[in-house]
Amino acid sequence: MEYLKITGETKLDGVVEISGAKNAALPLIASTILAKNEISICNMPDVVDINTLLKLIAKLGGSYEKCDDCIKINTSKLDKTTATYDIVKTMRASILVLGPILSRFGHCEVSLPGGCAIGQRPVDLHLKALEAMGAEIIINHGYIEASAPNGLKGAKIVFDKVTVGGTENTVMAAALADGITTIINAAKEPEVVQLCEVIKNAGVLIEGIGTSTLIIHGTNRKLLDFKDFHVIPDRIEAGTYMCAAAISNSKLKIDKVIPQHLEAIIAKLEEMNFEVIQDKTSVTIMPTDEIKPVNIVTTEYPGFPTDMQAQFMALATQANGTSTIDERLFENRFMHVSELLRLGADIHLNGNIATINGTQNELNGTDVMATDLRASSALVLSALVAHGDTSIHRIYHLDRGYEDLEGKLSKIGAKVARYKE
Ligand code: UD1
Repeated sequence: MEYLKITGETKLDGVVEISGAKNAALPLIASTILAKNEISICNMPDVVDINTLLKLIAKLGGSYEKCDDCIKINTSKLDKTTATYDIVKTMRASILVLGPILSRFGHCEVSLPGGCAIGQRPVDLHLKALEAMGAEIIINHGYIEASAPNGLKGAKIVFDKVTVGGTENTVMAAALADGITTIINAAKEPEVVQLCEVIKNAGVLIEGIGTSTLIIHGTNRKLLDFKDFHVIPDRIEAGTYMCAAAISNSKLKIDKVIPQHLEAIIAKLEEMNFEVIQDKTSVTIMPTDEIKPVNIVTTEYPGFPTDMQAQFMALATQANGTSTIDERLFENRFMHVSELLRLGADIHLNGNIATINGTQNELNGTDVMATDLRASSALVLSALVAHGDTSIHRIYHLDRGYEDLEGKLSKIGAKVARYKE
């Protein structure tokens, strides 16, 4: 196993270029199962989760070829319908192949994702939506077995909760269904929007893109003619580097972003007294005289993203006052707290609310353990301001979602290196 060693109290400076969004690329790769042609997807992030899904596509009988940041995917010969445990256990998002495989082949088997580090994360809403479209679903020997021998039928689906993956799975299933599917209370995340646009450009009429009501006119199992495209920038990677600038109180330009996707993050940084200068494709964070405390409630897009909560908690340890973070989407998503305490942070947890006292808070480097993807980035940010060295273990969590983290951090002046345990 590998760990990262970061020497703190350095100023950052320069420009960071943001990679393509992992959470957009995953459903987009899954959507290629609906295609009749080879597709080239560019601005693909080079992170472990993407490679895991590509491996699954290959196991199912598809093929892919990488060239720089583009990947050509061809699923025309895809002929297997089972996503096995060995892959699904390493990445929960493998569930995203369920909708497209079921709608193309009339059956699909996906290993149950099981528990994960940030709580239970059920897939009941995905399954309910597919059942509404006529699928029969049973759980057998730890596998979700779904079948619709005569194909899926368009249906009206009302999600009890806003679910990103559930909306994506349903849109992909509906694309090849017979008739019109209406999704009420759909997710509006930019990643969902890009998936809808790509499928629309491939020939499926989708109305209401970017709203909470999506209307999808299915092709009745006619495979789609995809056009090549670029993955949108990663708003969470961008937000993480914005927090890196803020926590080290440095001027930093975050380039190759879509600033509109960062509005909730920019608003909170401004509340914390940072100036954020925006242009068409970049944001620049300016240092401040005083970091002010902040109150955050995580919610669906366009609200404040749960995937940025841990990073803002690290930042709040440096604020002049008491901040609160109310986590509304996932239970058990405060595992970074115990590690931040080891660095000397003053944080109290009460249910799903964390209170962070930043007054005169000085962090001191030590050994800490990454527990999930975004929790790990909070440890990296804290290490940037901590006195001395911080060693972050189990960094495979970071490698799942941050492309070339050490390279990008080193380029802007951080003292960071990767070692083997
Ligand atoms: C996606 C993102 C993840 C992000 C999350 C919320 C990807 C690959 N991952 O995860 O980084 O943190 O959105 O923005 O895009 N739920 C159910 N039943 C279901 C599905 C979800 O109860 O069938 C609940 C979840 O437990 C959670 C809430 O709905 O409380 C939202 O989850 P969801 O939007 O589905 O998250 P993911 O798609 O898994």
